[in-house]
Amino acid sequence: MLKIDYNNMTIQTLGKKNGIDVDKSVKIDKSLIENAFQSVHSTRGQGMQEWMDLPYVNADLIEQIKSFTAPIKDSASDFVVFGIGGSALGIQSVATGLIHQRHNSLSAKDRKCPRLFVEDNIDPNRFLSLLDCVDIDNAYFNVITKSGETSETLAQFLCIYDLLIKRLGRHKAVQRIIITTTIGKGSLYKVAMQEGFKVFGIGQGVGGRFSVLSVVGLVTFGVLGFDINQLLLGARQMTERCFLPDIYQNPALMMAYLQVCSIKSGKNISVFMPYADGLKFIADFYSQLWGESLGKKFDMQGNEIYAGQTPMRALGVTDQHSQIQLFVEGPFDKVVTFLTVKDFGVSKEIPKIEGLQMGDFLSGHTLNDLLDAERIATEWALTKNGRANFNVILPKIDEYSIGELLAYLMMQTCFVGSLLNINTYDQPGVEHGKIATFARLGRQGYDRQLREMEQIKKMDKYTI
Ligand code: PA5
Repeated sequence: MLKIDYNNMTIQTLGKKNGIDVDKSVKIDKSLIENAFQSVHSTRGQGMQEWMDLPYVNADLIEQIKSFTAPIKDSASDFVVFGIGGSALGIQSVATGLIHQRHNSLSAKDRKCPRLFVEDNIDPNRFLSLLDCVDIDNAYFNVITKSGETSETLAQFLCIYDLLIKRLGRHKAVQRIIITTTIGKGSLYKVAMQEGFKVFGIGQGVGGRFSVLSVVGLVTFGVLGFDINQLLLGARQMTERCFLPDIYQNPALMMAYLQVCSIKSGKNISVFMPYADGLKFIADFYSQLWGESLGKKFDMQGNEIYAGQTPMRALGVTDQHSQIQLFVEGPFDKVVTFLTVKDFGVSKEIPKIEGLQMGDFLSGHTLNDLLDAERIATEWALTKNGRANFNVILPKIDEYSIGELLAYLMMQTCFVGSLLNINTYDQPGVEHGKIATFARLGRQGYDRQLREMEQIKKMDKYTI
C-alpha cells in the first residue's frame, strides 16, 4: 500500500521556525478542512469531478478496450500517441513506469508489444525524425484531444493522415488511426464520423489532466499489455482512502492541507522528485496537475487572488548534482515531495575488483542501496537545514501502485483547490493561448483577437 511519511513537514522535526504544528493547526483549521472536504465529497463524481468515478468503470468497457487493443499489441510495430497536456502526460508517465526502461531499443521479440512514441510537441525536427523511425506500414496512431480543436494535435493528425493515405490508400489509412475525443463535439469528431475512424469517447466531466484513467490512457495501456484491472483497483482503493473524513486517515486531504499551510507561509515552489527513472514523467504529470489546476487569478466568488504554487521537476539522484544546492541553501520557498520505491524488483551488486584501491565502501552494496542512501542523505540535508519535505513511498512499481499514486495525486490537487477556494478544473490561461493561436493562423471568427494582438507593437529599440 502507498504510504506517506510527512514527519519532515512538522515542528517536531523541522523546528518551530520552519515546521508545522500539525495537530494544533488541524484543530485551528477544523472548519476550513471540513468544508473543503465536504465540498469535494458532496459533489463526488458530478460535473467536472466525473474523473473520480473512472476507477469504477464497468467491466464491459475494459473488455472492449482489451479486445480492440489485443490485435494491435500482437501485430503492430509502433504505436504513436498524438496529444498534448492532459492528452499525453498521463500516458507518458504510466507507460514509462511500467515498460522496460529501454523498451523502444529492444528487438521486436523481446518487446512483446509495439514501440511507443508519445508525441506532445510539434517541433518539425521532432515530427520528421519520428517518420524516420516509425515503420509507417505497420504503425497505429492514437490521436487524442478532448476538445477536438487543439491546433497542435489537429496538425499532427493532418500530417499523418495525409502520409498514410499516400502510402496505403484512404481505406487502409482509416484503419490505422484511432480517435479519442469527446463524442459529438469538436472538428475531429466530425471528421472521424465522416471518414469512419475508430472513436473512443471521453466523458464530458473528465478534464484533460484528470483523464489518464479514462480511455485517454487505457487504450494505450491495453496496447502495451498492462494489467488495466490492477491499475484501476489501485486507483479505486486509494480513492476510498481519500474519501475518509478523518484527515489523519486521508493521505490526499492531509498532504493537501499541509501544502496549503506551506503556501501560506511563503513556500511558493513545489518540487517533485522521484527516485526512480521509470517514474520521472510522473513529475511532469504532477507539474501539469499542480500548475494548471491551482494557478488561478480568481477565487470562486470572483475575487482576484492570484493563487498557485509553482511546480518544479527534479530527478533523484541526477538532480542532487544540479539543484539540491539550491534546495538546501537557497530561499525558504520550497516544499520537496520525494517519490520513493521500496522494491525495484531487480538489483545490481557493485562488484569488488581485485587490485583496485577504490570504492571499498561501495563494493558489496547494490545500486539500490546507493540510490536509497542518497535519497535518505538528501532528505536529511534538507531537514537539517529546515527545509520542508515529505516522502511518497511506493512498495514497488506495478499497475496497482501506479493506480494508487495517480489517484492520490489527483485527489490531493482537488483538495488543495477546494482549500484555496478556486476552480480546480478550468484553465482560462491555456484557452487564451489556444484562441490567440487560431487568430494568428487566420482561423475564421478570430479577427477581433488578431486585431488585439496586432496592437502590441514591438520596438526595435528593445531588441538587441
Ligand atoms: O488539462 C487540460 O485540460 C489541458 O492540459 C488539455 O489536456 C490540453 O490543453 C489538451 O487539450 P485537448 O485534449 O482538448 O487537445
